[in-house]
Amino acid sequence: MDPIYLDHAATTPVRPEVTEAMAPYLAEVFGNPSSQHRWGRKAATALEDARTRVGTALGVDRQEVYFVRGGTEADNLAVFGRAQFARRKGRPPVIAVSAIEHVAVLTAAETATTPDGDLHVLPVSPHAVIDEERLQVALDAKPDLLSLMWVNNEVGLELAVPQIAARAAELGVCVHTDAVQALGKVPVDLASPGIQLATLTGHKIYGPKSTGMLYKRRGTDLDPRIVGGGQERALRPGTQDVAGAVGFATAVELVVAEQGDESVRLSRLKDRLLADLRAALPDLRVHGAPSACGPHILNVGILGVDAEAFLIELDICGVAVSAGSACGSGAHAGSHVLAALYGDELEGSALRFSLGRLNTDENSAEAARRVIDVVKRVRAYSEPASVFHEVPEPAPGSRP
Ligand SMILES: Cc1ncc(COP(=O)(O)O)c(C=O)c1O
Repeated sequence: MDPIYLDHAATTPVRPEVTEAMAPYLAEVFGNPSSQHRWGRKAATALEDARTRVGTALGVDRQEVYFVRGGTEADNLAVFGRAQFARRKGRPPVIAVSAIEHVAVLTAAETATTPDGDLHVLPVSPHAVIDEERLQVALDAKPDLLSLMWVNNEVGLELAVPQIAARAAELGVCVHTDAVQALGKVPVDLASPGIQLATLTGHKIYGPKSTGMLYKRRGTDLDPRIVGGGQERALRPGTQDVAGAVGFATAVELVVAEQGDESVRLSRLKDRLLADLRAALPDLRVHGAPSACGPHILNVGILGVDAEAFLIELDICGVAVSAGSACGSGAHAGSHVLAALYGDELEGSALRFSLGRLNTDENSAEAARRVIDVVKRVRAYSEPASVFHEVPEPAPGSRP
């Protein structure tokens, strides 16, 4: 039985074009890019060329690209960097985030505003609408940072980042977006007005792990999180990973160039997967309104199955997915995102399918068949199901 990988939101395989581009920098071109001699100069040339390629692919100035070691680090740098800047100016930081941010933003924001700062956590609806009243209160507080993820990693909801950033910009509020799950899946324009900081990571776009960048718009005040040498214009000191930067640049170029066609393909696969699952499991609950989600993530609640037994059975039959969270008896242990979206309404086991380059029409249809078989088998020895309530679509035009 061929294994089927449906966990691209967790990580992606490195593309051959990427490994090929990196190879010389893992071997003969080994110099430290800060060294003055020819070995160093060769490495520095490759590093700066990678920066230029990333800037060009993303439509931003190369000087606005700061290489870091992945999404967590970039998120932390944005949040703590803005908080530290505020403290240096003599005021406790005020930060606003959506309730469905990745923990790299959420926990950083909680820590950075403790004990004397102020944290606004903005509720989000299952249709990706941020609570308008709470948003306005947060904006009126003139936060040092408003951080809103572009596409959520657990349910795939796409927040209206460019629209809200433009509005925040008019009030002089600095906006950061975690675009880790957005790049290559939806159009991402970092140069759109109001976006001042943005996070990207290599390993979700078929690049190497522990690579990524923080986009920092020219003129945005940000303190470093770690100190040391002057690398990355002293914002992220430490000897740079030249091979990683070259691999990251290659991955960014490819994923940006292919985004339009790939998004259409992924949407088709996702729609089909959902239709197959729904046809066999009519009590399936979709987490996150499909019309408000990016094309690659499908998070569903399955009643009457024990999450742990379910995932083990799925693994045995060769299907790799993630547990969105393990929920039992109305509890939502494990997922702050599902808790924020559904509160105590939530029941059953949540499962996240995330599609990508390893998926075809054939293997995603086969995955649906295997999942349905497993649900039926596990239900036979699990608790009986109760009933889910569907969330209605919002009125047209109600999304900001
Ligand atoms: C939305 C989002 N932000 C940040 C991260 C963290 O990125 P990294 O694994 O590169 O540290 C992830 C990874 O799962 C993510 O999905």
